[in-house]
Amino acid sequence: MKRCAICFLSVFLSLFFSCTQKSSTNQNEIVIGEVGSMTGSEATFGVATHRGIELAVSQINAKGGIKGKTLRVISLDDQGKPDEAATATMRLITQNKVIAILGEVASSRSIAMAPIAQTHKVPMISPSSTNPKVTEIGSHIFRVCFIDPFQGSVMAQFAKDSLKLDKVAILRDVRNDYSVGLADYFTKTFTAKKGKIVLDQSYSAGDIDFKSQLTAIRAQKPQAIFVPGYYTEVGLIARQAKELGIKVPLLGGDGWDSPKLTEIAGSAIHGSYFSNHYSTEDQALHVQAFIKDFKDAYGVTPDGLAALGYDAAKVLAAALERASELNSEEITRAIAQTSNFQGVTGNITIDANRNTVKSAVVLKVAATGFKYLETIRP
Ligand code: PHE
Repeated sequence: MKRCAICFLSVFLSLFFSCTQKSSTNQNEIVIGEVGSMTGSEATFGVATHRGIELAVSQINAKGGIKGKTLRVISLDDQGKPDEAATATMRLITQNKVIAILGEVASSRSIAMAPIAQTHKVPMISPSSTNPKVTEIGSHIFRVCFIDPFQGSVMAQFAKDSLKLDKVAILRDVRNDYSVGLADYFTKTFTAKKGKIVLDQSYSAGDIDFKSQLTAIRAQKPQAIFVPGYYTEVGLIARQAKELGIKVPLLGGDGWDSPKLTEIAGSAIHGSYFSNHYSTEDQALHVQAFIKDFKDAYGVTPDGLAALGYDAAKVLAAALERASELNSEEITRAIAQTSNFQGVTGNITIDANRNTVKSAVVLKVAATGFKYLETIRP
């Protein structure tokens, strides 16, 4: 009997909350949406981004909000699945009536979301999707990060000019638009610089055994292996490479950026290198202020995802403040006009293709964390 009453109460409460969530037309609020991988094998991407967004929004509201209104974010978890990301986007637009969307991190999921945002003319800003296809989807799709033709050339340049390597193998995730693109862009620059790709192997996200690819790669004696994947698989690949006696460093891109990378790989990943959007060693005052505020709020050092989530939210907020009216056309126009915005991840100017041109940093994975090595400018 008691149990029944509790059931009843919880059904009532959840109905009540979902109703209050849906009625987002409170006059004193501006409601935006967020889609991210809060759970699943890329959970640190979604959680870190969410925290960055949340920190930005709390700072904005503490200073009086936007046009005198409170900024509210409705965040939905896509579990790291493109179809869930698309469903979440549809729900934010049709049910929650959000006026803009932040997300996703992973390019494959942004590519699934963007056509929906574009069709409904709801501006979307991806904090961190780097594949060129994302913003090509349409006039309402933006990003505040650099793109992969640049990121691929950064790591190829680093391999050739800084590490002086001539022979590199590739291990790419064929189910991930980001990974495929980055592998191709790396190849383009590395071979243009007279480097040789000795073998190009593939895996699929979710795989756990990479031994046959790594054995084939080992036979070609590369001086490094470029693995443009996400941290869960890269961590396992590093471990298995070590088990197979492979001693050369791994090279990668921003998809490595997670505290879980070293948790999974252990010391097998030490001495490897990846490109990223920011370094915690950047001494600029506004960067250190962000790091301090983030640590105070969450007790951990913000990674690149957190920094990009923070920047994306601030860019959107600044655009909402500048927009002459809070309608789709004016908000989209204001975002497109973003110019020289001082972000934690660099200065942000949205270009004619709705992308951002920014420097990248190369980090080395060490026992003490990700160490800053160099900055490569566009
Ligand atoms: N750039 C990656 C993509 O497009 C996502 C990512 C960004 C992952 C930053 C980690 C850090 O898929």
